[in-house]
Amino acid sequence: MPPSSGERLIQLGNIYRASQKRIATKSQRHEGVVPWCLCAIVILDINSTHILRERNMATTLDNLKEAFAGESQANQKYLSFAKKAEQEGLHNIARLFRTTAEAEKIHAEGHLKSMEGVGTTAQNLQAAIDGETYEYTNMYPPMLKQAEADNHKAKRMFGYAVEAEAVHAKIYKMALEAAKQGKDLTGVDFYLCPVCGYIELGKPTKECPVCGTKAEKFVQV
Ligand SMILES: [Fe+2]
Ligand SMILES: [Fe+2]
Repeated sequence: MPPSSGERLIQLGNIYRASQKRIATKSQRHEGVVPWCLCAIVILDINSTHILRERNMATTLDNLKEAFAGESQANQKYLSFAKKAEQEGLHNIARLFRTTAEAEKIHAEGHLKSMEGVGTTAQNLQAAIDGETYEYTNMYPPMLKQAEADNHKAKRMFGYAVEAEAVHAKIYKMALEAAKQGKDLTGVDFYLCPVCGYIELGKPTKECPVCGTKAEKFVQV
């Protein structure tokens, strides 16, 4: 079994001490011999041990990111599969999908916590603003353009998302202002368009500005 990084550091320490003894003996014969080359070797080796340790940590972080993405997708996929099973009258299979989706959510949440992905609410709101902003400024516009060029059916939801994400970012900014003052949002109700994901503050009186869904179809979560 290869030595652990801790054992390797002890070994290097021993090599260094032994080399110092040898040099001390030599120094008695050749005044002024400086063990700089050995120091350099030891420092280089210790640095490479550090790099290796950092790389191992980065790899676990990469694994966490991959696992979090996979489990999150599985959660959503199983919920969609459950909906389909319900439509087909297969209620127990739907229940199985929902239960497994919940299990994947437990895994996803654990992975997110392990990668320090949950901060204070103010930090989380900032992360949410950054994510939503990235989506409607960088991510979705070229995706929408491509889908339109391909005349792919994805253009519908890409188009909805690019508009809805901008609204999400705006509402999160409002929430962040409150959170920064240690306050919760008050006096607001959120109504969700079940077709495009647009969020209205307060009970909607008009159709959805993004997709035209009627006001009475909006839902509260
Ligand atoms: Fe969003
Ligand atoms: Fe909508």
